[in-house]
Amino acid sequence: MKSVKQNAVCDKVASFSEALLGWYDRNARVLPWRYRMGERPDPYRVWLSEIMLQQTTVTAVIPYFQKFTGRWPDVHALARAEPEALMAAWAGLGYYARARNLLACARTVSQEFGGFFPEDEKALRALPGIGEYTSAAIRAIAFNKPAVVVDGNVERIITRVYPDAAQNPKDKRAIKGLAEPYYDYASRVGRPGDLAQAFMDLGSGVCIPKAPRCGLCPVSGFCGSVSLIKGQDSVKPPAKPERRKRFGQVYWIEDGRGRVLLHKRPPKGLLGGMVGLPVSPWSDGAQSAVLKPDFLVGVRVRKLRDAKIIHPFTHFILTLEVYSTEVPSDFVYPDDYFWHRISDLDSVGLPSVFVKVVNKQLS
Ligand code: ADE
Repeated sequence: MKSVKQNAVCDKVASFSEALLGWYDRNARVLPWRYRMGERPDPYRVWLSEIMLQQTTVTAVIPYFQKFTGRWPDVHALARAEPEALMAAWAGLGYYARARNLLACARTVSQEFGGFFPEDEKALRALPGIGEYTSAAIRAIAFNKPAVVVDGNVERIITRVYPDAAQNPKDKRAIKGLAEPYYDYASRVGRPGDLAQAFMDLGSGVCIPKAPRCGLCPVSGFCGSVSLIKGQDSVKPPAKPERRKRFGQVYWIEDGRGRVLLHKRPPKGLLGGMVGLPVSPWSDGAQSAVLKPDFLVGVRVRKLRDAKIIHPFTHFILTLEVYSTEVPSDFVYPDDYFWHRISDLDSVGLPSVFVKVVNKQLS
């Protein structure tokens, strides 16, 4: 038999979940990967959206999701994509390892699972690019299976609902433990996927990091922080550590016939597998000396006045000085470089850092 305290906890969980699900029914965002009540989700679209949404905003993802599903409408089609075409289509979305894993995962699901995503957590997590969060999201949203989906929104909401219990926002296990009863409840009423997406919508529109809109919150009555927050920006998001700075050079090399030299970057590492402009190694700390790539040693390059590109990556901020030159027809360059028409650069799918250089160069 449950104690009075346990019953009170169960009541809170049930009432909170009902209030949140009811709010979701009335206010859910209409998103291209979402399904209306009664519709059966397509696991391919759920998986694709969840991979794209890792560390990326909904607004940024929508056009990419539409482009990908238009061009590769199912997992077999995606599995047949040329890696270069897929990487080019991903360009601008960042975190390019996701695109490499996307293709590897599509090929595994297409070839080894007959095009059906597995529903089981262990099998899902064995697929490239699918970790704890993504497997839970796919299980809950695509298959309506019990799963505890904890993204940054759920972490923030739970930390606020339980300011005493979830004191350390970094203690992900504790937060997951506190979120679990809500997902258990949602699973009992057949709505774990809706609860996950309700948390996401609440976190993105109401329980936002700064100045949460508690007046609009359907579950403020259950929240241990609402009296602390009241109209001001308390519950401050933790200060982000300052990102380190890195420096380097980027080269705009023309052949005098309307073409620019591009680099097929190695498959691993930052921007791995993407096409870019030639760059120097990047140095830490103070602005570096000019470290040309070997094949440019002895080639006269011109530094463009005021042409500095500053680009934030997740763990550092990169400043690139732009150099340009025109080389003769017997210019020798390594195998992983190639000429491309300047007028057709849009078709390449350059990562954003290089798009900035192109825009500067061609403006
Ligand atoms: N972020 C991650 N997954 C999401 C989803 N399914 N809907 C909205 N935002 C998300």
